[in-house]
Parts: sequence; C-alpha cells; structure tokens
Amino acid sequence: MLDQKTIDIIKSTVPVLEEHGTAITTAFYKNMFVAHPELLDIFNHANQSQGRQQTALANTVYAAAQHIDNLEAILPVVVQIAHKHVSLGILPEHYPIVGEYLLKAIKEVLGDAATPEIMDAWEAAYGVIAGAFIGVEKDMYENTEKADGGWHLFKDFEIVDKVEESDVITSFYLKPVDGKKLPYYLPGQYITIRLEIPGAKNIVNRQYSLSQKSNDETFRISVKREDTLTPNGVVSCYLHENASVGDIIEVSAPAGDFYLDPTGTAPVTLISGGVGITPMKAMYSTIADLSPEREVAFLHSARTRSQQAFANKLEHINAKLPNSTYKALYSEEGDGMFTRQFLEENVIADSDVYVCGPTGFMEFVIQQLHAMGIPEDKIHFEFFGPAVALQLQSV
Ligand SMILES: Cc1cc2nc3c(=O)[nH]c(=O)nc-3n(C[C@H](O)[C@H](O)[C@H](O)COP(=O)(O)OP(=O)(O)OC[C@H]3O[C@@H](n4cnc5c(N)ncnc54)[C@H](O)[C@@H]3O)c2cc1C
Ligand code: HEM
Repeated sequence: MLDQKTIDIIKSTVPVLEEHGTAITTAFYKNMFVAHPELLDIFNHANQSQGRQQTALANTVYAAAQHIDNLEAILPVVVQIAHKHVSLGILPEHYPIVGEYLLKAIKEVLGDAATPEIMDAWEAAYGVIAGAFIGVEKDMYENTEKADGGWHLFKDFEIVDKVEESDVITSFYLKPVDGKKLPYYLPGQYITIRLEIPGAKNIVNRQYSLSQKSNDETFRISVKREDTLTPNGVVSCYLHENASVGDIIEVSAPAGDFYLDPTGTAPVTLISGGVGITPMKAMYSTIADLSPEREVAFLHSARTRSQQAFANKLEHINAKLPNSTYKALYSEEGDGMFTRQFLEENVIADSDVYVCGPTGFMEFVIQQLHAMGIPEDKIHFEFFGPAVALQLQSV
C-alpha cells in the first residue's frame, strides 16, 4: 500500500497531469514505439492517429490516480479495459515498459516541476494501478484457458464461409484449424482478429462482435466496409476485398462486458445504429432460443434497407416471438432518425436497454433514455473503438 504522503502527492498532482494529459500520453507513445517497435504489432494505428487511444489511457490513469487509495471505486472501468487487454494478449511483462515510458513522458512534459519526490510518488502509484490490471487480467486469462474449448492468447482459424449481408456488411464464418469445439460465449461479446496484410508494415488487430448465438462450431463476425472516409479502413476493406474462404487468421477467445444475461427473463430493449446491429443480432437470436417468452423490443436505425444486415432474419425471429416488437427506421427512405417520441413509444418500461452504434447515435439515444428516467444501471452500451466519454447534455 502507498503511504499517506505519496497518496497526497498523487492527488494534488492529478490536475496538473490532467492539464497536460494528451501531451504526456502522446510523448509517451512516441518514445515507447521508438524503443519498442514490436509493440506496433499490438496497437491500433488508426486509433492512435486520431488520438482516441491516448485520450482513453490518459483519462484512465488520472481516474485511477484520483482513487489511488480506493481502486475498488473504478473496478468496473478496470474490468472493461482488462477485457480489451486480454482480447489483445497484453501480458504482465508489458506493464513495466508502459510504466517506464509514461514516467519519462511526465518528466519530459513537466520538466523541473516534476521533482524527484513527485516522480517517486507516480512510480509507486503506477505500480499499484498496473498491479490492479495485472491481477484482473490474470484471472481472466485463467478462466478463458480453462473453459471448455478455451485457449490462451491467439489461435489459428480458417475462414469457412463469407456471406454478403447487405451492401456494406459481410459476414465471415471462422472455424478453429485444430478442429476443437468452441468455448461458450455470452451474446454481445467480441473477439480480436490478428492478421498480416500484404504490404502493411505491422500485424493488425481489430475487435469484432460475435453476430450469432454461441455454438460449438463457428464464430461469425459481420464487418462493415469502411471506405467512405480517407484513408480507407485497413482491415475491413482487406476482409471485404481480399480475404476468402480457406484463408487463415488468428483469433483470440471471446471477451467483453457488454452482454445479455442469457438466462434472464426480464424485459429487454435492443437499440442499434448501423453496424452496431451485430451484438444485438446475437442477443436477439439467443432470446429466441432460450427465452422466447421474454418481452423484447428491437429498434434499429440504418440509412437504407439495402445497407442493413440481417433484415429478413430479424423479421423472421420477430414473427416467431410472442412478446417481441421489431422496428427498423431507414433515414434515407423517409423514416427519419430516432426521435424522443419514437423511443418513448417503443422502449419497454423497466427493461434493460442495450445500445450500440456510432458515438453520436449512442449519445443521442442515451441522453433521451436518461431524460425518460431510465436508471443508469439499466443502460448498457458498447463502443466500436476505444471507449470515450459520452458528451451528454440534459434534454
Ligand atoms: C468491441 C468492438 C466490437 C466491434 N464490432 C464490430 C463489428 O461487429 N463490425 C464491424 O464492422 N466493426 C466492429 N468494430 C470496429 C472494428 O474493430 C474496426 O475498428 C473497424 O472494422 C474499422 O477497422 P479498419 O481497419 O477497417 O479501419 P481503420 O484502418 O482502423 O480506420 C478506421 C477509421 O479511421 C480513419 N483513419 C485511419 N487512419 C487515419 C488517420 N491517420 N487520420 C484520420 N483518420 C484516419 C479511417 O478513415 C477509418 O474511417 C468493433 C470494435 C470494437 C472495439
Ligand atoms: C495501467 C496501465 C494501463 C492503463 C491505465 C491502460 C488503459 C487503457 C485504456 C483506457 C484503453 C482503451 C480501452 C477501450 O478500448 O475502451 C486501453 C486499450 C489498450 N491498451 Fe492499455 N492500459 C494500460 C496498460 C497497457 C499495456 C501495458 C499495454 C501493452 C503494451 C496496453 C495496450 C493496450 C492496447 C493495445 C489497447 C487497445 C488499443 C486500441 O484499440 O487502439 N495497455 N488501455
């Protein structure tokens, strides 16, 4: 445990570091990648270049430091990040590297203001924060590996089918090359795929939600082609254009804390925008399978029907479920976007609400849910990128 003096120094310097937060983490990454280029095979370069990862890490270190004498308070955040770390294969030996370059960056940005006493305090605090992550991640790795069909880190999977689900979304069915059965996963969880793309300098990793209910045979991911912004999305465009049946890619075991309790019976509202439909599809199929009497509303927003994945399948499931409503709005076909009125009419009272879609979409929806009086602990959401603070305004 840290002594009181160290805790006081940490708490009093958090605001200073927050002020220089992004400068510190930007310097940290730059120097760390020069010294440890092998880490470029783990980090997502697009997230780096947009600053999202730096911001996420900076926010977390400061949040942790604020609660350095009571890290329990940020345990849910640690768990959520630990899922991402475990999915990417982050190991205990990586932590001292991050610690070394984070401390050097603090010194570089703060200069003489970072006295030896302050630096010693932050070194001790980083040790405590890293220890909390390492402990949570160790348990996760152990549980994953010992699960029936589980494995450690990555293993080879073959693409056994490639199916166009819409104009922009294609599914890939993945089967383990070793022929073993797959571990059970919860609807809403994701995997990381790792692959080498010809011509690319580094190995790339991306997370994809599993878009079908758990089964022993195949994982299915459903990928949106990201080709509307410059530069084109590296992995999604490669998968759409070049990946084919028979190709081998590496896959990590399912992870993530955004999931529906498959044994629950309480009402559920699933709200998705665009490719955010993927975890919802796994949840809806699981409900159809395990608790078909459950009250459920599935609300989806897409630009057009031809861009929406699973439209026919969702209508089919809805028709079979006695207490289900399914509504899709197509913004470019005259339906408009979700409105407060639409949500008030369709979100089931007292339900657990699951939200996934573009950040702006989630901000709008969650803002309205708050205004409608839905309690915080009933609202669950997933970012398809590093988690960032939602910009919520009161409405
Ligand atoms: C938990 C989780 C679940 C996910 N599930 C799914 C899913 O089910 N389906 C799905 O399709 N996606 C999903 N994603 C998103 C997915 O992981 C990828 O981020 C997505 O496929 C884009 O990857 P990419 O390599 O194609 O694009 P990237 O190359 O990573 O680029 C992403 C975006 O960043 C922009 N960009 C890249 N470099 C720069 C730069 N230097 N400056 C400015 N902009 C830049 C690109 O134009 C592009 O728009 C999920 C993500 C997470 C975290
Ligand atoms: C105490 C130390 C650490 C903290 C506080 C921390 C914090 C974070 C946060 C907040 C995220 C974003 C989570 C999300 O996607 O929502 C993240 C992701 C990530 N972390 Fe860490 N992390 C730490 C240590 C490490 C270490 C040691 C490594 C490996 C060298 C690492 C590698 C990564 C990678 C590769 C990602 C995903 C990056 C991306 O998607 O761009 N982290 N971490």
